[in-house]
This record gives sequence, C-alpha cells and structure tokens, in this order.
Amino acid sequence: MTSILVTGGAGFIGSNYVRRILASGVADSVVNLDALTYSGNLENLDGVLDDPRHRFVKADIADAPGVDSALGGIDFDQVVHFAAESHVDRSIEDAGAFLRTNVLGTQVLLDLARRRGVTRFVHVSTDEVYGALGPTGLFSETTPLSPNSPYAASKAASDLLVRAAIHTHGFPALITRCSNNYGPYQFPEKLIPLMVSNALEDRPLPVYGDGMQVRDWIHVNDHCDGIEAVRQRGRVGEVYNLGGGNERANIQVVKAILAATSKPESLIRYVADRLGHDRRYAIDATKAETELGWSPLVSFEAGLAQTIDWYISNRRWWERIKSGAYLEFYARHYAARLGGN
Ligand code: NAD
Ligand code: TYD
Repeated sequence: MTSILVTGGAGFIGSNYVRRILASGVADSVVNLDALTYSGNLENLDGVLDDPRHRFVKADIADAPGVDSALGGIDFDQVVHFAAESHVDRSIEDAGAFLRTNVLGTQVLLDLARRRGVTRFVHVSTDEVYGALGPTGLFSETTPLSPNSPYAASKAASDLLVRAAIHTHGFPALITRCSNNYGPYQFPEKLIPLMVSNALEDRPLPVYGDGMQVRDWIHVNDHCDGIEAVRQRGRVGEVYNLGGGNERANIQVVKAILAATSKPESLIRYVADRLGHDRRYAIDATKAETELGWSPLVSFEAGLAQTIDWYISNRRWWERIKSGAYLEFYARHYAARLGGN
C-alpha cells in the first residue's frame, strides 16, 4: 500500500503528476492538499476529481493547525511537495507570499511529515536556486546555491530547511531541481502559455529585454517521470537535477509559437527587461540519468507542437483563467462537496 500526500496538486505540475500516478497505478491513494491560490484550479484535475483513489483537501501549508486538522484521520506514508508561489515576476512585485508559502509552509510540512512518520518526502525544487550561467557551463548538484530573484531565494531557503531536517533528524527527504517546464494546464502568466494564448487572441507578445535569455525546457511529463524515479529509486538525503537538455533563447520560442499558430511576427513587442533577469539556465542531469535510469523523452519540437494543440483544443480552460471566471468554480461546484472553506 502506498498512499501519497501531494501538496500543490491543483497547480500546473502537481495536477499533471496526480493524473500520471493515478493512471500508472503506482499509488493506492492520493491525498491532494492545495490552498487553491490564484494558480490552483480544480479544473486542472478534470477526470481525477471523481476517482475514488483521489481525495482533495483544501488547506494552506503555512497554517500549521489548519493543515493538521485538514489531514486529521487521513493516512499517507509518503509526501511529494509541489505547493509554492512559483512566478518570478510576482516575487519581484511582492515577496511576502513567497516567504510565507515556500519557506514557512515547507517547514510546516517537514514538521508534520516527521510527526506522522512518513517514509519518504520528495521536495520539488528548481534550477533557479543555482543563480544564472554565462554562455557556457551547466548546473550540477554541487553548484553553489546563488539565487537571484525573491522566488529563487525562497526556494533555496526551502531546500536548506529540507537539508537541515535530513541532517538533524535523519528525515527521509530527497530534493529535485528541475529546469523550465511546459505542457498542458500551465497558468498563462508563464512564457509559453502566455505567448500561445496571446497569439491565438491576436494580442501582442511581450518579450523582455533583448529576448536572448536562455532556458532549458522540459515537458511536464518528463519532469513528473523524473520525480517518480527519485521517489521510487532515489537515495535519501540526495539532490537530483532534472532537465530537458533543450536550451532555447526566449525569442526562438516565441517565433516558433507564432509560426505554429500561423500568426505574424509583428505581434512581438520588446518590452522593458525583468529586474535582475537571469541570462541563462541549463541543467546537467547526469546523476539522475546514471543512478536512476531516467532521461527526458519528449523532444522540444514535438512537445511544443502537442502543447500548442492542447491550448488550441482547450481554449475555454485558459479563457476562463484570463477572464477570472475559474475562480468561481470551487465555490460553485466543490466547496460543499469537498468540505472546504
Ligand atoms: P503553480 O503555481 O502552477 O502551482 C502551485 C500550486 O501550489 C497551486 O495549486 C497553488 O494553489 C498551490 N499553493 C500555493 N500556495 C499554497 C499554500 N500556501 N498552501 C497550499 N497550496 C498552495 O506552480 P508549478 O509551476 O506547478 O510549480 C510546482 C512546483 O514545482 C513549485 O514548487 C515550483 O517551485 C516547482 N518548479 C516549477 C518549475 C516550472 O517550470 N513551473 C520548474 C521547476 C520547479
Ligand atoms: P517564466 O515562464 O516566467 O519562467 P522563469 O522566469 O521561471 O524562467 O519566463 C521564462 C523566460 O521568458 C524568462 O527569461 C522571462 C521571459 N519572459 C518574457 O520575455 N516575457 C514574458 O511575458 C514572460 C512571462 C517571460
């Protein structure tokens, strides 16, 4: 019997992960704990909300008594921790929620998981904790933490709290650090879904600075499979980098999206650069590949084409987000049924 507590399972990567582990049958039950912030959306869980193996619990990870009471009487033996504030631009505007959720919330979960005697805790982190690269080189697990944005600093702090729990209490945690994800159900404030949805609406595509910043793109399914490899076969106490090996400059990605949607490059608008904008991220995933036998399978070209098709076929999903209509979904359909507040 494996019962997994997933935090942040109504967000982009968490909802893809929940769908994937229920489909593969590796978990007997999944407890999905999420506060449903602006980026959490039960419409991301279409098809699994009615699965008897899946239970949704609405709670804020930074509220220790609230999490305790929400999980009272619910059994789980492992934790996969996704819940976070995740958008760099928002962290530049206001870092408060990032400190509360990413730092304090992670410690609340570590304490709860230790009290509950969990056998494994996978902390989902990001390559952004390593800072920025120049034109060459890759981030390895031994690259010093050197976060540049408030988001990255809050994730680095959470990684260090996990490390401290391992060292101090012998807590059975593992850390993953992944590069930029793309795929279905990504909130349309992030580069790829924002550009695809704006292109489909014939709206301008805002490119920060010179558009030559480089990200290493990985399909969300490959990331989820990497997390599963770490959960099932990783060594407790270790950090595993996960990356797609697909380095692209932002402007290349934007132009590829315009070409795939048959929209003109005149929609591109070069706008003021992001403050402190990291120039390049790129991952060395050799450790996960050699130790765990994991490697990314989706090529960027195929993955981007499938993703664009998904946003074309699921226009209602992102239109409801852009209009704000999705915020009413929980209140109208699920609050009473799921016993949330
Ligand atoms: P997301 O913003 O789409 O989802 C975050 C989820 O966490 C939402 O469902 C939200 O409601 C929930 N949440 C936020 N605050 C909460 C709180 N206080 N209590 C409970 N739930 C809360 O983010 P994502 O892109 O799916 O990222 C998930 C995780 O993966 C994050 O930890 C992020 O740092 C990490 N990560 C993301 C990427 C990427 O490219 N998106 C890459 C590497 C790592
Ligand atoms: P983003 O998706 O926010 O991810 P991250 O900042 O975590 O890498 O941004 C990806 C890249 O795209 C980053 O270099 C910033 C850039 N970008 C734009 O040029 N325009 C935009 O509107 C957004 C949201 C991002």
